[in-house]
Amino acid sequence: MQHKQRQILVTSALPYANGSIHIGHMVEYIQTDIWVRFQKMRGHQCFYVCADDAHGTPIMLRAQEKNISPEALISEMKEEHQNDFNDFAINFDNYHSTHSPENQIFANTIYEKLNNDGHISKKTIKQFYDPNKEMFLPDRFIRGECPKCHAIDQYGDNCEACGATYSPTDLKNPVSVISGEKPIEKESEHYFFKLSNFEEILRKWTRAGHLQTEVVNKLDEWFEAGLQEWDISRDVPYFGFEIPNAPNKYFYVWLDAPIGYLASFRNFCDKEKLDFDYWCKSNSKTEMYHFIGKDIIYFHALFWPAMLHGSGFRTPSAIFAHGFLTVDGQKMSKSRGTFITARTYLDHLNPEYLRYYFAAKLGVGIDDIDLNLDDFLVRVNSDLIGKVINIASRCAGFINKHFDGKLADDIHDPVIQTALTNANQKIAEAYEAREYSKAMREIMVLADKANQYIDHHKPWVIAKQENSEKELQSICTTGINLFRLLIIYLKPVLPNVAIKTEKFLNIEPLKWEDTQTTLLNHQINKFETLMIRVEKEKIEAIIENSKENLTKI
Ligand code: MSP
Ligand code: ZN
Repeated sequence: MQHKQRQILVTSALPYANGSIHIGHMVEYIQTDIWVRFQKMRGHQCFYVCADDAHGTPIMLRAQEKNISPEALISEMKEEHQNDFNDFAINFDNYHSTHSPENQIFANTIYEKLNNDGHISKKTIKQFYDPNKEMFLPDRFIRGECPKCHAIDQYGDNCEACGATYSPTDLKNPVSVISGEKPIEKESEHYFFKLSNFEEILRKWTRAGHLQTEVVNKLDEWFEAGLQEWDISRDVPYFGFEIPNAPNKYFYVWLDAPIGYLASFRNFCDKEKLDFDYWCKSNSKTEMYHFIGKDIIYFHALFWPAMLHGSGFRTPSAIFAHGFLTVDGQKMSKSRGTFITARTYLDHLNPEYLRYYFAAKLGVGIDDIDLNLDDFLVRVNSDLIGKVINIASRCAGFINKHFDGKLADDIHDPVIQTALTNANQKIAEAYEAREYSKAMREIMVLADKANQYIDHHKPWVIAKQENSEKELQSICTTGINLFRLLIIYLKPVLPNVAIKTEKFLNIEPLKWEDTQTTLLNHQINKFETLMIRVEKEKIEAIIENSKENLTKI
């Protein structure tokens, strides 16, 4: 059944170190984690790496506000992020930081190679400068009146009132968000990556099956508009890496952020004695996938492959973009209490509810996905508790009470057992294709069948009949085996329930190939609650707390 072992490197986007993880982020980390766990269960060599994205102006300013060094801030945030991920059962093989020696080495060598090959240019540009704070201002740190509709207090790059986009120097009456002062225009020399040098390669690459159709269409628009040179430098003061041989110039955060994927993997390879070059140099036979949100496609589908290609590294096998999370049909909102941090969620609810709910909603597309809180409660309770967990609780008691925890030596109904076994291929294909919602639907159909089987044979009635011990044992053994198959299928989504089930069934960690075997003549342990129902009050408490977080800020 097992095909050739694949070697797969997987990443999720690197979260910024200046904010907490929220349930919107979790769409991505859960989506990726499910895929990685699935690949590992299939017996492939699969590594999942990530890191904190630690550089940039917002992080520098946040550290100043808190009166701590940026290094102290990012190490605090890294710990917070790792705890959140860990408690959501996101199983990274390595979690690193872009503010790391590995990343600095890669950023420098990639930059130097691109520079030597004529892909970097220098130009003097004019930008807003805060004379008070003595720094250049990123677009989002300037506000003013929209040049089109004259709405006041708009960002430096786009107007929230009329949707216009413009350059900050077009704003009327601009002010620096940092000091409240009127910014002045000041010249400075910047370094640019000549993306258009890679146009031909990129046009080919973006059409060679590495991207989703919607993404290809988006890229076509960008090609039409023309590939612009990309400003990769920032002036001091900046929290980041200094550009080699360019005093007081720093790499823009987005230059070294994707390089952080390689840095995290390098750090892992050094610890695990793996051959980094074999995985990451050009022409590598291994696979590399980046899971990202649809807002950062430009960086990943254009800049990143061009940078890799230009510096002797392998390009991604594919980029998997997903849509944004909405809650009850609307953008997450602080005032409505739907801007829910990972920690607030975890304070009240089991992470596997959300893992399952997202899985039930996720497909291959980049459409936004909605967390409908009423639907969340109904879905989790009826599918996970009502259908899946219920099977075990209906059968385990009889096995424990009547047979000292011993399963029968035969299956009572091989037909249904085989039906559930044979579904494994279809479910595997759905996981592989990131069609999780399809996989979940498939699994719930099987759970319905298993419940019908038990309803039909009514072990609770048989238990009261005379001379029916053997039949009772064999029916419940079938039920337990059907449950075991469902847990194999759900294991990428519900790793904690799977661990509890392995303990209950007294078995080794379940792998995909275990769908081919049956548990007979085997001693199981006492059944303990695998998962409880979602309670409405808990959801309400989350909303309340999220509103409270707001007043604290
Ligand atoms: N630091 C950059 C990524 C650098 S990758 C080399 C960044 N960080 S982020 O913290 O803003 O977002 C991390 C990931 O979470 C991104 O892929 C982003 O699209 C995703 N999401 C952030 N908010 C989200 C939702 N509300 N819904 C779904 N995904 C979201 O971007
Ligand atoms: Zn406007």
